[in-house]
Amino acid sequence: SSIFKIAIDGPAASGKSTTARHVAHRLGFTYIDSGAMYRAITLKALRRNIQFESPSEMPHIINLANTSKIHFATTTPIGGSGNDNTPQTIVYLDDEDVSADIRTMNVSRNVSFVAALPEVRKAMLAKQRRYANSTDIDGVVMDGRDIGTAVLPDAQVKIFLTAITNVRAMRRYEQLKKKEKELVVYEEILRDIEKRDKADLERKVSPLRKAIDAVVLDTTTLSLSEIVGKIIEMTNNMK
Ligand code: C5P
Repeated sequence: SSIFKIAIDGPAASGKSTTARHVAHRLGFTYIDSGAMYRAITLKALRRNIQFESPSEMPHIINLANTSKIHFATTTPIGGSGNDNTPQTIVYLDDEDVSADIRTMNVSRNVSFVAALPEVRKAMLAKQRRYANSTDIDGVVMDGRDIGTAVLPDAQVKIFLTAITNVRAMRRYEQLKKKEKELVVYEEILRDIEKRDKADLERKVSPLRKAIDAVVLDTTTLSLSEIVGKIIEMTNNMK
């Protein structure tokens, strides 16, 4: 297809979604947050009190992945939100706006278990490819863990975003604190990130990996605008 594809992968809280959102906005592309999809399935399972560690419950989780409707919409904030006027992504689960609910620590703590189930990944991969190939879009920016390696191996631009763990944890801490939805403790966030990275790196199906042809960008030392600028430049060179 002639749809331009940008894949952004990396560990938790490395700046993927902020970067992807800005790049998509600048290029007029559609942004797809693949992590939000795994979070939405996890949220639904939590609401149904599914016991994650119990093998007999696994078919339920897989069934949720196969039958749930997940879609995205973007809104442009009208003033009031500082100098960040890039569109925000709204995530819908069965037509309910779950954008806030999927960001809680409870979802974060359980999402890597759900994302390690091969059948769940298969269902999400099919949805992700369908979004990326929908004919009414010019380009797509998708972020996650396996976008460059498994979901969109044909992406023209592949980025692997990293940053040292403390920087990533502090970034997520500031983000969650601003929302004030729940009490946030830095150490807890640090532990969650380390645990999730380990699980994402060690799972059998589509683990977190840098694609061979991905360019590594480190957000410890590069600013958001530098990173966005580099990705735009790479894209313009490939067009
Ligand atoms: O990107 P985010 O941190 O919201 O992703 C939440 C979780 O979803 C990750 O920790 C990982 O377990 C899973 N995920 C994944 N593959 C992706 C995106 C996210 O396994 N492409």
